[in-house]
Amino acid sequence: MLKKLILKNRSYRRFYQTHIIKVKTLKGLVDLARISASAGNLQSLKYILSCNPKKNNLIFPYLKWAIYLKDWPGPKEGQRPSAYIIILGDTQISKNFWCDHGIAAQSILLGAVEQGLGGCMIASIDREGLRKALNIDARYEIHLVIALGKPREKVVIEKLGKDGDIKYWRDKKNI
Ligand SMILES: Cc1cc2nc3c(=O)[nH]c(=O)nc-3n(C[C@H](O)[C@H](O)[C@H](O)COP(=O)(O)O)c2cc1C
Repeated sequence: MLKKLILKNRSYRRFYQTHIIKVKTLKGLVDLARISASAGNLQSLKYILSCNPKKNNLIFPYLKWAIYLKDWPGPKEGQRPSAYIIILGDTQISKNFWCDHGIAAQSILLGAVEQGLGGCMIASIDREGLRKALNIDARYEIHLVIALGKPREKVVIEKLGKDGDIKYWRDKKNI
C-alpha cells in the first residue's frame, strides 16, 4: 500500500486550477508533518498556507518550474496550483534544520496524494522576492514551497536508458 502511494506521488506541475482546496485540508496535511520526525523534536518548522487565488497569485511568480523542460515556463493560467504550503524554518528555535523540511514535505505530499490531490516540492525559489511579497520576517528561512492541486497531467516513471540520462521530458501527448 505504501509503495502504491509513493509510486502515485509524482511531481505534478499542471492542475485543475479551479479545484478548491480548503484551508482545513491544508491544516490536515501540516498535521501529518507535525507528527513526523523532527530533529531533537524541536518542531522548528512553521508553515504558510495559501488556498485563495489572491494569495496564490502572490506566490506563483517566485517559483521556478521544471528545469529540464527548457521550452516550458511553468503552468499557464488555468493549470496552476490551487494551494501552496510554504515550509519555513524558525531561526529563533534552531539554526540547523537538518532534513526536517524534506521529511515534512514528503509527509504532506503523501497525504495529498492519498486524497486524490498531488503536487510538487519547489526549492528553486526567488526567496527575497517571495519574502517581500508575503512579508515574511527575517527570522524565518524559506525552505520549500509545496505546490498543490488536483493533477491535470499524467506522469510516468521510465526505466533508465543506457545513456544514463535522468532528465524528465514530455512526449507529443504531453505526458
Ligand atoms: C528538494 C527538492 C526540490 C525540488 N525543487 C523543484 C523545483 O524547484 N522546481 C520543480 O519544478 N521541481 C522541483 N523538484 C521536483 C523534482 O524535479 C522531482 O522530484 C524529480 O524530477 C523526480 O520526479 P518525480 O517526483 O515525478 O519522481 C524538487 C524536488 C525535491 C525533492
